[in-house]
Amino acid sequence: MDVKIVKDKVAGGQLAFDIIKEDITNGAKVLGLATGSTPITLYQAMIASDLDFSNMTSINLDEYVGMPFDNPQSYHQFMKDNLFNKKPFAHSYVPDGMAEDIEQAAADYEKIIAANPIDVQILGIGRNGHIGFNEPGSDLEGRTHKVQLTESTIEANKRFFEREEDVPRYAISMGIGSIMQGKKIILLAYGEDKADAIKATVEGPVTSHVPASVLQNHDDAIIIIDEAAASKL
Ligand code: GLP
Repeated sequence: MDVKIVKDKVAGGQLAFDIIKEDITNGAKVLGLATGSTPITLYQAMIASDLDFSNMTSINLDEYVGMPFDNPQSYHQFMKDNLFNKKPFAHSYVPDGMAEDIEQAAADYEKIIAANPIDVQILGIGRNGHIGFNEPGSDLEGRTHKVQLTESTIEANKRFFEREEDVPRYAISMGIGSIMQGKKIILLAYGEDKADAIKATVEGPVTSHVPASVLQNHDDAIIIIDEAAASKL
């Protein structure tokens, strides 16, 4: 793991952008994208740049189950608002949380990933060490699947909803095994409330209790964190 400590989230987004830009110059065609507040500064750097993504493909990590795509809290809408409306890709895939058969939608998503191998995978991290929506205890080799969110994730996400009852209980997420196929992985984390998860990810054992710790087994994983997220290293 290559740990890079930056001043703040703006510097982190810029550094991630610089790495992606170089990969695109060298032929990268498929970006794995993430939601949450963390990647926003990266998306802002992408939008501010003169890079054109219209011949590239993006594949998102996850989506809530049962949330209409045009709901402001859906990850489909998040990606439009924060990136795609300004920088469209040739193809942008986000898991179909509205599918009648979620298991089938998950299997179909794996086919999309297989047909479009991810060159650079962007990740945030949950306070409990989750990546995508792979909660502690997830299969380290798992593929895209339906997941039940933990109480801590529901708690962390409720700030985006009017009432706690409105926070979805299920999601469809790329699995840890799907994520690990990315040729390069860039995990971003900012702020003190990520410090414990970062310590366990970087210094702890590789364990399904801390899904992000599996990145220790990846050949080209870069962890970009600010000083607060690095404070327990
Ligand atoms: C959600 C997403 C994750 C994200 C996490 C952290 O659970 N599914 O992909 O990493 O939130 O979000 P934030 O970046 O807002 O802290």
